Amino acid sequence: MSDFHEGVLLKETIAGLKVEKNKKYIDATLGGGGHTGEILKHGGIVLGLDVDEDALAYVDKNFKFQISNFKLTLARGNFRDIDRIALLNNFAPPAGGVAGIIFDLGVSGYQIDNPARGFSFQYEGPLDMRMDQDLGVRALDLIKILTKGELYEIFTRFGEENHAWEIANAIVRARSVKAIATTRDLAKIIFPIAGQSKRVFQALRIAVNDELDAITQALPKALKLLEKNGRLCVISFHSLEDRIIKRKFLEFEEKNLGKIITEKPIVTTNEEIEKNKRARSAKLRIFEKT
Ligand SMILES: C[S@@+](CC[C@H](N)C(=O)[O-])C[C@H]1O[C@@H](n2cnc3c(N)ncnc32)[C@H](O)[C@@H]1O
Repeated sequence: MSDFHEGVLLKETIAGLKVEKNKKYIDATLGGGGHTGEILKHGGIVLGLDVDEDALAYVDKNFKFQISNFKLTLARGNFRDIDRIALLNNFAPPAGGVAGIIFDLGVSGYQIDNPARGFSFQYEGPLDMRMDQDLGVRALDLIKILTKGELYEIFTRFGEENHAWEIANAIVRARSVKAIATTRDLAKIIFPIAGQSKRVFQALRIAVNDELDAITQALPKALKLLEKNGRLCVISFHSLEDRIIKRKFLEFEEKNLGKIITEKPIVTTNEEIEKNKRARSAKLRIFEKT
């Protein structure tokens, strides 16, 4: 168990990737190295990438042995550039194909539970929400500069929030009196209208990190990196992501690029949910390249 992040569907992902000794794997969402650690245990060689410098620092400290033995390479970057990052690190032709790639989407436990990162309405902190600390725009910038219509659009599209219009209205009214700078400032405006602030927080996080576009761009690039019979495993945590993955896999199949292994997504067992509440909404989809 990691103090940084509790890995989700670990056993199922390792089986899905069909990890073999000395084959190459890419963990596109390194986090606390939960999935990477399991792949290494099964003898795989891993390229782990993440946009968050804290994740890389944590894994760098905890996997020194595997790094010094060239079993694990770390890279900072956005998985939307997975093709370029893989090439730079000899995880792409001509250095040989990759046997499997895992995407475990969303935020890590560390990110959500760290008030300074501003992801959670449960802790007071700056309204930041950047996974990549070098991004120029934070959630508080969106809240400050977007028009009422643009806020409505984001809350509706990325949060499926039914009260999007009233919330956008209340934000515009509140910010004309005092800047909305913290998680609690925002939660206090949303809660009386919607009874929860989860959906708006999710929407802002997706917008700040351009999450849906990143995964849409990354999946075809990841598929290209795979060798014959290589596997793509994607774990998602909400319906917007899952819909994209499902559609992309169908599109790949229609183009005869491989086959869908999971007609229905693999979900977590009750036992795992008891230990880790975040695992509740996890869905794993697997695709095999031909
Ligand atoms: C759910 S956590 C992964 C946890 C990891 N599988 C484990 O078991 O420890 C997701 C991680 O992916 C990273 N991430 C999210 N979107 C990314 C992107 N577009 N490119 C690279 N990393 C990303 C986040 O910073 C976060 O550390």
